[in-house]
Formats: sequence, C-alpha cells, structure tokens
Amino acid sequence: MSEVFNNSNFEKISEYVYRKTGILLEDSKHFTKLNNYVKARCEHLELDGFRKYFFKLRFEDLEGIEFQELMNAITVNETYFFREENQLDALANSLLQELDYLRSSNEPIRILSAPSSTGEEPYSMVIKILEEAKIVEKRDIEIVGIDIDSTVIEKAKKAKYSDRSIHAIPPGLVAKYFKKDGMFNQFSEDIKGAVDFKVVNIFDKTDIRKLGKFDIIFSRNMLIYFDDASRKEVAMTFYDMLKPNGYVLLGHAEYMSRIVSVFKVKKVNDTLVYQK
Ligand SMILES: C[S@@+](CC[C@H](N)C(=O)[O-])C[C@H]1O[C@@H](n2cnc3c(N)ncnc32)[C@H](O)[C@@H]1O
Repeated sequence: MSEVFNNSNFEKISEYVYRKTGILLEDSKHFTKLNNYVKARCEHLELDGFRKYFFKLRFEDLEGIEFQELMNAITVNETYFFREENQLDALANSLLQELDYLRSSNEPIRILSAPSSTGEEPYSMVIKILEEAKIVEKRDIEIVGIDIDSTVIEKAKKAKYSDRSIHAIPPGLVAKYFKKDGMFNQFSEDIKGAVDFKVVNIFDKTDIRKLGKFDIIFSRNMLIYFDDASRKEVAMTFYDMLKPNGYVLLGHAEYMSRIVSVFKVKKVNDTLVYQK
C-alpha cells in the first residue's frame, strides 16, 4: 500500500463505522487492528491505498461485501454457555409463565437474542427451557438469534463448541445435549433447529421490522460498545419490537434506567428485567 494509514484515515473509517453500526472505535484499542486490516484488504483487492479502499467501501459496495468483511474484523464476539445463569432462571421459571398467562393460547412466545454471537446464549435458553419450563409442553416457543457479524452466525448454525465455551454448563446437561466431536462438542443436531439465526444490524430498521414482534429480548454485552445516543436508539428499537408487557434483559454492566425511562424496572429471580 503506497499510502500510510494515518490518524485522519482512522477518524474517517471510525466515523463511518459509528454511523452505520453505533460501534465506537477508540484509537488506543483499534488503530493497529484497523491499520493491519486495511493493509491486508488493499492487498487482497489490489487497491493502491486507503483512499481507494474507503471509496470502494462507501460507493462501490453494492452488495455490502466490504462492509460485512469490516464488521467481521472489528466486532468482539466473546460469549459462552450459561453466562449469567440467573437470567436463564428468570426466563424459564418466571417470565415465560407470566407471559403464558397473558397471551392467547394459540400465540407462540417469541424470544430474541440480540446479539447472539456464536449461538451460546440462545442455545442456553433452549436447554434451560427444555429442562425447566413446563409451558414448552403446551405452547410454541420461537427463538431468533441475530448478529451483525456473518462469521459468528455461520458458526452458530454449525453449533460446534470448544470445551471452554461449554465449561459453565452442569456436566449432566453436557452429556445430554452435546456429542464429542474431536476437539469440539457438537450441540444436539435434533435441537439446534430450535433457533433461527440471521445476520442483522440492530440499526437497520428494515431488517429489524422484518423480524416481527417479540415477547422477550435478551441484549447482553452489545450496548457496552455504543455511546449514549446509540444506546438510546437501540433501547427505543427494543421498545418498538416488544409486544405489550414484554421484557428486555441486559448484561450485568448495562442498565436501561441510565439510557431511557420508558420501561418498568423489576427484580425477578435475583435479576433486573425491564418491562414494556
Ligand atoms: C460480546 S458479544 C455478546 C454475545 C452474547 N450476547 C453474550 O452476552 O454472551 C457482542 C456481539 O455484538 C455484536 N454486535 C455489535 N454491534 C452490533 C450491531 N450493530 N448489530 C448487531 N450485532 C452487533 C458483535 O458482532 C458481537 O458478536
């Protein structure tokens, strides 16, 4: 690449990413990563420097391939099964019962994991619901997982996990729901179809509308990468996506009351939940 990647290039690309995704890139953490990424991408595409790359990203990326590549490179996808189990308890043993009582009997209960990353969160819900939520015997439960990163969604669909990823699941449940496959653990082929995974940017209003309305939204450890304005926008998106009396659950470092005041805050099974 003839042109050096400099601070002004970094600012331009950060501004673009922020506008499209709400993700804030900080130069202390992301400068080197982006520098290496742009260099590699220019080599791969045979482009002569940042200006050409940035032009392509903004104006010649009609199918969104460059945007998707960039997203896949910058997102932080850390997750594991049974992370924050008290929230899964609240889901299986309280929230589903309450919504079962409120909803008409032929309606499915719909749960969204936004973001799902590689699938551990929505599959943990499936295990917990099958093990503990009686309503699964009489009512359809639909679970949808979305993430902006297409590589994690592909991994989620395959449902093959490392030992580290499943370390927090009680051993009896590992034996019941996983099959050892070399160094990996394959989540039950019969059950993995219970989650519908899609690549969706939470700021893409058209794609969000297509997902329909939900009873419960888990949104753990995504808002932490956004600034206040983007958090507020996403909180209001969740509000619109929820059916009446539906719930949002956030990660342990995220508090809805600091973002918007439209939700009622409740404590259920030792966990904070936000009700429409
Ligand atoms: C740390 S993971 C959280 C996974 C899981 N919810 C958990 O708490 O274990 C954060 C995920 O947010 C996704 N993400 C970031 N910005 C997003 C956006 N604008 N729309 C959808 N997903 C996004 C990233 O791709 C990443 O996989």
